[in-house]
Amino acid sequence: TTRDANADLRAHIRTIPDFPKPGIQFRDITTLLLNGAAFALTIDRMAEQVDGEVDLVAVLEARGFLFGAALAVKLGVGVLLVRKDGKLPGATIAEDYALEYGSDRIAIHADACAPGARVLLVDDLIATGGTARAAVRLLRKAGADVVQAAFVIDLPELGGADALRSDGIDVTTLVT
Ligand code: PRP
Ligand code: ADE
Repeated sequence: TTRDANADLRAHIRTIPDFPKPGIQFRDITTLLLNGAAFALTIDRMAEQVDGEVDLVAVLEARGFLFGAALAVKLGVGVLLVRKDGKLPGATIAEDYALEYGSDRIAIHADACAPGARVLLVDDLIATGGTARAAVRLLRKAGADVVQAAFVIDLPELGGADALRSDGIDVTTLVT
C-alpha cells in the first residue's frame, strides 16, 4: 500500500473527475478488468494477503462481486452475497449506510452462514467505510467471525480503513 507497491496495478486504474457528482474523483476499475493479466495479478496479490483460514468470502455488490468471486475460486471457498436491499429472494437482514455520494441499504440472507464461520470481506474500494462497516454489522448479526477485509483500492483520506480497523477487522489493500 505504499506509493510504489503495486504500481503495475495502479497503472490500470483510471480516474474520472466529477463522477457521479461534482468534486468526486472516481477511481474506475473497469480498465483494470479489461486487462486479463492485470486482473489475474490483482487476484494473486489479494490471495497472498489472506492471513489464516477462511470459510467464506463475502462479496459487496456490485464491483466487489468480481474480485471476491475470483478470489474465492482461488481460495477454494464459497461466496456469500451482500446485495443492495430488495434483490435477495429469501428472508434477509438489512443495514442502512452513508456513501461518499449518497446513502443505501444492503442485505444478506439471514441464514447465509453457519455461526462462527470465518468470513473474508471483499470489495473493490474502501472510501468512508460506510458500506464495509454495514456489511460487518450484518455478518456479525448472522453469527460470522469477520477475520479480514480486503480491498483493491484504499482512499485513506476518507478514513474507512482506519474505521474498519477500529471495529476489530484486519484490513488489507493493494493500491492507495
Ligand atoms: C462503491 C464501492 C464500494 C463503496 C465504497 O460502491 O464499490 O462498495 O462505494 O464507499 P464507502 O467506503 O464510502 O462505503 P457503490 O455503492 O458505488 O456501488 P456499485 O459497486 O454497485 O457501483
Ligand atoms: N466509491 C466511493 N467513492 C468512490 C470513488 N471515489 N471512486 C470509485 N468508487 C467509489
